[in-house]
Amino acid sequence: GVPTLLRVTPSQLAHHNGRRDRTSATKAKKPAWSAWRGKVYNLTPYLPFHPGGEGELLRAAGKHGDALFNEVHPWVNWENMLGSCLVGILVAEEEGEA
Ligand code: HEM
Repeated sequence: GVPTLLRVTPSQLAHHNGRRDRTSATKAKKPAWSAWRGKVYNLTPYLPFHPGGEGELLRAAGKHGDALFNEVHPWVNWENMLGSCLVGILVAEEEGEA
């Protein structure tokens, strides 16, 4: 079916920074989301495949990835590569849903 897109606020984006969640009992790593052109993508499934390494990719986690991405490889097609990892669209803080 057609996946439902979330309305993601800046603070939700910032929370999904790929770091360990010290507030949870399991201390599991949070998903790594990044925004590109107003759309929010889950980078986590792609981390092991990134030719530049996980650490580099994680620099964009929880943030707008546009600037870092464009600095390194503007020729890479983010949308084509991560289309199936689309989470939602970035909205203003007060326009979130949860
Ligand atoms: C290389 C994809 C984000 C740093 C690459 C390459 C691809 C790729 C396909 C190989 C490019 C080539 O050889 O022409 C992606 C995707 C991203 C992403 C889909 C989406 C989020 C980032 C970010 C950074 C980064 C945010 C840095 C902060 C690098 C570096 C290389 C690289 C340094 C060069 C690796 C090397 O040639 O040794 N990436 N990248 N990437 N990426 Fe990314």
